[in-house]
Amino acid sequence: MGDIAAISAGTGELQKKLVAIRRRLHQYPELAYEEMRTTQAIREWLAEAGIDVAEYPLKTGVVAEVKGREDGPIVALRADIDALPIQEETGLPYASTIPGRMHACGHDFHTAAIIGAAYLLKRREESLKGTVRLLFQPAEEKGTGALRVLESGALRGVQAIFGMHNKPDLPVGTVGVKAGALMAAVDGFKIEVEGVGTHAAVPNAGIDPIVAAAHIVTALQTIVSRNVGPLQSAVVSVTRIHSGTTWNVIPEKAVLEGTIRSFDERVRSEIKSRFERVVEGVSSGLGAKPAIRWYPGPPAVRNDEHLTELMIHAANKVGLRAVTPEPSPAGEDFAFYQRELPGSFVFVGTSGPHEWHHPAFDVNESALEPAARLFAEAAETALIRLSEGRDDHPNGL
Ligand code: NI
Repeated sequence: MGDIAAISAGTGELQKKLVAIRRRLHQYPELAYEEMRTTQAIREWLAEAGIDVAEYPLKTGVVAEVKGREDGPIVALRADIDALPIQEETGLPYASTIPGRMHACGHDFHTAAIIGAAYLLKRREESLKGTVRLLFQPAEEKGTGALRVLESGALRGVQAIFGMHNKPDLPVGTVGVKAGALMAAVDGFKIEVEGVGTHAAVPNAGIDPIVAAAHIVTALQTIVSRNVGPLQSAVVSVTRIHSGTTWNVIPEKAVLEGTIRSFDERVRSEIKSRFERVVEGVSSGLGAKPAIRWYPGPPAVRNDEHLTELMIHAANKVGLRAVTPEPSPAGEDFAFYQRELPGSFVFVGTSGPHEWHHPAFDVNESALEPAARLFAEAAETALIRLSEGRDDHPNGL
């Protein structure tokens, strides 16, 4: 980076630098917990601006700080840094150089934007009312990176946290901001249905796990349609069935896998208990024995009302238009932070040509600098409000 002063003065230098950062990240995507090169690059970009890296026990990912008033509050800005096992098909000149690896969810965009916010905040550090902790989190795609960051102690003392996801279907210049549920809780399941194998021509001598599995799939469809309230929303999807080895043998076992998405903890636990009753009831009615394994993922992203209002305020201030987004049934491990402290997660409009995880996924890079300005503004405002100890919120926000 040439000069931090130029970067914050709106000369176009910041945008140019963020585009370069994003493209460099895009060329070298790394999977969850393997983000060694990415980690190194982020440290270097922060060091160029004199931003201190804080040492926490994390193998990949970076925690850094821009420090204003020493006894002031601490707020956090979070970006995720990992990529996906997808073969890129964008044909871009800066496409992935690593076969079968791609930044197909735009975490390169998030990382570049938060580095931009760090640059802007560094420039204003004298006037900051506290500390901004920058979290470059590994392994969002595994849904567990946030837990590692929490375990490392990097959230200690933090009173508010902000995060983003790019949103291909929102136009550049807009930001989707919403209090309450924004992204879904994610649960995975695996069911092993045990029957009794036999000759295909003599089914009465065995217990057919394929028939039981078929009934289970059908019966599971009643959970959303009959047990979840009509004004609530949830998804139950069976996405994989495995059974049998050949055409004339009734096998001993069928294995089903899938996922459940929900936006409310009560609905989430009700679905789980209905799910178990349906699987056990249908199986036992047909003589089969089921075993269910759960793979619980992050809870729903639920945004704090006051911080979300603050985000709208910040959006207006930097010239972005705040819109109310439709919640997404995808998951986000940012929700783990929100279990510990108030946070607001927003969708930054990137006018993308494809949905997340598509092999030709892309972002419109002109959204980079506005996103950086939005997060710098939000952090600065949160520090002001927290240090003033506004009394209309338990945390001062
Ligand atoms: Ni993502």
